Amino acid sequence: MSEQPHDPRHRRLDADDWDDLHRAAELVWGAAPTTWVVEQTAALPPGRALDAGCGEGADSIYLATRGWQVTAWDFSRVGLDKAATVASRAPRTVRARLHWTLGDVTVDPVPEPEPPYDLAVWSYLHPAPDGRAAAIAKLCDALTPGGLLILSVHERLDEHPDLAAFGATTVSAALPADMVVEHVEWRDSDPRHGTGVDLALRARRRHD
Ligand SMILES: C[S@@+](CC[C@H](N)C(=O)[O-])C[C@H]1O[C@@H](n2cnc3c(N)ncnc32)[C@H](O)[C@@H]1O
Repeated sequence: MSEQPHDPRHRRLDADDWDDLHRAAELVWGAAPTTWVVEQTAALPPGRALDAGCGEGADSIYLATRGWQVTAWDFSRVGLDKAATVASRAPRTVRARLHWTLGDVTVDPVPEPEPPYDLAVWSYLHPAPDGRAAAIAKLCDALTPGGLLILSVHERLDEHPDLAAFGATTVSAALPADMVVEHVEWRDSDPRHGTGVDLALRARRRHD
């Protein structure tokens, strides 16, 4: 992907910056859902999902197509509008399952009306480091017992060494005590974003 003035990998970005980035191309990150999300949800029965930092909505639309009720949450109005435009080509039943919701994961409460969620998706959402732990914990607290957090983030991006990346320690330290990490692995970066290493994690909220 070519460099842009508001490239998120260069500095902390607010919602206006993300609006500019989302305006800069028809689809900035591409229409395909995140591989980790597809792998981890393909065998699940549909339920209620929260897609935090949904961006252009590829994961949200994928989940809704598979029958999930999806709250797609992002602080960029332009990103949400683009996502809704992409979704407008989907069948009415799919569109009816998508709830586009404007909000900042580091500031706002988890959106109503549908917590507790069965699934929380955190896909390449890199808010300011000082807001991450609380945001991850907030999502986990909105899960039903047995609910899953499916997280995929950049641990290193070769083209952008100054990215405020995260590691497994940061993520696991942010998880509430009733979350159990079931799987963690490191993968080559999603090619939509560059080359490097992604951290992919699945954690589940305990039943008791
Ligand atoms: C790299 S995109 C990822 C989009 C999508 N999850 C994906 O994997 O393709 C990051 C998204 O996170 C959103 N974002 C960044 N910080 C946020 C925050 N504090 N609250 C809500 N959304 C945020 C941006 O607006 C952007 O749409």
